[in-house]
Amino acid sequence: MVRLSLLSLPFLYSITALAAPSVPSLKLKKYVDALPLEFNFNPVISAYWTGLPHHRRTPFAVSADGKTGFLAYLDASGTDVHLQHIDMRTMKEKGRTVTIPNVKEAGGLVAQSHGFALLGNEAIPSSVANAPPGGTPVPAIYRYQNGKQQWKTFVAGPGVHADDGLSMAPDMNGDLVYSEKSGLYGAYFVVTDYTGFAEGHFGDSIQYVDDSGKLKTIEGASSAWGCSHNTGIAFEAADEPPYASICAEDQGAIWLNSKTLGMSNTGVKISNENTTNGGSGEPMGGMSGSYSALARFTNSDSYIFAWVSRGAVDLSGNDWMGEGYTHSLPRTEGRRTAIAILSDKYTKVGPQATSQVGAANGDSQVNWVAPTGGDSNNAHVAVFDDTYALVTWEEIANPSCDFVAMGCSGAFSGTYFQLVNKAGKMIGKPLKSMDTYVAGDMVTMPDGRICWPYVNMAWKLDGPVDGGSAKKMSFACMSLA
Ligand SMILES: *[C@@H]1O[C@H](CO)[C@@H](O)[C@H](O)[C@H]1NC(C)=O
Repeated sequence: MVRLSLLSLPFLYSITALAAPSVPSLKLKKYVDALPLEFNFNPVISAYWTGLPHHRRTPFAVSADGKTGFLAYLDASGTDVHLQHIDMRTMKEKGRTVTIPNVKEAGGLVAQSHGFALLGNEAIPSSVANAPPGGTPVPAIYRYQNGKQQWKTFVAGPGVHADDGLSMAPDMNGDLVYSEKSGLYGAYFVVTDYTGFAEGHFGDSIQYVDDSGKLKTIEGASSAWGCSHNTGIAFEAADEPPYASICAEDQGAIWLNSKTLGMSNTGVKISNENTTNGGSGEPMGGMSGSYSALARFTNSDSYIFAWVSRGAVDLSGNDWMGEGYTHSLPRTEGRRTAIAILSDKYTKVGPQATSQVGAANGDSQVNWVAPTGGDSNNAHVAVFDDTYALVTWEEIANPSCDFVAMGCSGAFSGTYFQLVNKAGKMIGKPLKSMDTYVAGDMVTMPDGRICWPYVNMAWKLDGPVDGGSAKKMSFACMSLA
């Protein structure tokens, strides 16, 4: 202090500015109804088991130069996925709509030079040997360049890991990522097997496809069947396979399974979750979720994962699975948003969730984001840069939670946006919006903004709805101020 007081005043000001950079805050900008759609879109999908409304996912991706956005949406008829190009300066349409025929759901999108790759699903004609029964769709990756299809590669169905049983995907719940360094697309998706040891069971699969559209079976990275009755996927690219993966299963846990590819207890147990009837509280969004749940910090090996949880108390043994697996009771009626930081794709910062039978607290490792009370759903995360990330969720302040381990209902009371840092610390108070939702991938722009699509509509979480119709898409972008 004494030494400092000898310095001249202007110099003092400048070192103060350097030494204490102001803590950033969030700034939201909306582009309401900016993008007219050529076809009708139904923005609401009914959730598994409860029938409660979820936003129907509209996958979104942006070219590396930040100029062109790509938005995918399912035609209101339930067949055909449309791809709309967007001028990212104005959020208005650019070029013609590309339609991928016969696709039943848009499940993940990667923007590339002069085009895109989409994860979708479509029925295989029964005349094809070993096609799934009843025209059940099979997931595929579709690569387009300059509006034309370059290739289409099925990542399940006839001929794909036949020895382990054949898979199909009645719902397209999963995600598609791409690593420039490895030149490989990775897809992680929920499946049902229709032959083999897991016939009739829900599980999940991880598959890799190279730039030419060739399906690659990679030891230690590809997986025919991993987490039982997976109800949520978090997936993000790494520089080489295996990519970073997280699954929610029906036995009582969320696993970081980049190494195990399944639900082995040698994986990292991120959390204990109460489960019933294959549900575990829709941790990664449930139906039409499983995107923007895991994000990699810029120029870093570190990742951030966001989910919603009821917490876990009174751990009991899981006799069916054996040691390392537990059942638990929920701590709270509603769900709260939580985050976990990974120092790399295999490693969680801080302790794992306990597997100690009899433990009263099964959630002491959880880093809670949202305040107590109410119910949180539709949690997502994206990074701004190498230090800061944005966590978001929707809230029902006074929920009715009538279903065990599923979603709650009640009046929508706001979308929240919380700034967090790489150490998992909350920065400032969350920003709240009553008319902005997250209904598609949250994309980090080259200029550091995070942008995502949504439909401008009155959002109701009170009870099941019959769907709806939209012909315009809105966008929102968050920046650091
Ligand atoms: C989940 O919690 C409910 C009570 O809310 C309980 O009845 C059920 O047994 C729990 N599930 C498991 C697998 O322990």
